[in-house]
This record gives sequence, structure tokens and C-alpha cells, in this order.
Amino acid sequence: MDRTLVICKPDAVERGLVGDILSRFERRLLRIVAAELRVIDADTAAQHYAEHVGKPFYDELVTFIGRSPALVAVIEGPEDTWKVVRDMMGATNPRNSAPGTIRGDLGIEMGENLIHGSDSAESAAREIAIFFPGLG
Ligand code: RTP
Ligand code: MG
Repeated sequence: MDRTLVICKPDAVERGLVGDILSRFERRLLRIVAAELRVIDADTAAQHYAEHVGKPFYDELVTFIGRSPALVAVIEGPEDTWKVVRDMMGATNPRNSAPGTIRGDLGIEMGENLIHGSDSAESAAREIAIFFPGLG
């Protein structure tokens, strides 16, 4: 089995779209093995988004990801589940996301793109350890 980290970002929680988003994974036969509603503080955001520290959009990203509670979850499925989840999310900018994807069905602005998913098996392991250090 393979696990990946998903964050239903604050815009998704504010808009009441968590059920829609998670049910897409469940209907795809992926399993939720951990989930927590939490406000992501700046230190945790800096760990999670370490690759983006210093980029022009970084401050805006940290403000966005921490502005209200996010639903952080671990999703499990067969091999390369991180990639299956990324494909279901759609392109980073919802304007360019294909219909049928989460961002392509539910979003339109880059700054409010609803969901995070780990972008490799290594990222998944690193990010799961940040948010769910005790998960076996
Ligand atoms: P995520 O990490 O949130 O799953 O998104 P991603 O892999 O599709 O995109 P990534 O390149 O990792 O960027 C992380 C988040 O930063 C915001 N962003 N804004 N204004 C910009 O040019 C810009 N680029 C990225 C987005 O919220 C993106 O999801
Ligand atoms: Mg990313």
C-alpha cells in the first residue's frame, strides 16, 4: 500500500467542500487513514512548503494556508497513490485544470486552489511525518 498527504485548504473548508473532495477519494477506493481539522501555523507551513521559502508568492501562500482551519488527511491506496491523487486534483492553477478534476470542477483562481497533494513518494513520507508523526 502507498500513502500520501492531502490538505483540503482553508478555502475548501470555508466553502463546505471537504465532503465532496474526500468522497471523490473514497469512491475511487482510496482510504482515509488519518484526518485532522487544524489551523496550520507559520512554522508548520514553512516546514511543509520548504521548497517555496523565498519565492515571490511564499508570504501569500503561508497567509492563505493558515487563514482558517484546513482538513489535513492521509490517503492510502495501491502503488503510486500520490500520483493518482495528483491527477484527481488537476493542474495547480484551477483555470487550467481539466473538468472532472477537483480544481477543474470547483475552482477558478490560483490563490484559492482548494487542495494540496504530495508530489512524489518522498514528499509524501516527509509531509506525513510533519502532520502525523505518530502514524504507524
Ligand atoms: P500544492 O503544493 O499546494 O499541492 O500545489 P502544487 O504542487 O500544485 O503547486 P506548487 O508549485 O507546489 O505550489 C504550491 C502552492 O503555492 C501557490 N502558488 N502560487 N502565484 C504563483 O505563481 C503560485 N505558484 C504556486 C499555489 O497555492 C500552489 O498550490
Ligand atoms: Mg506542491
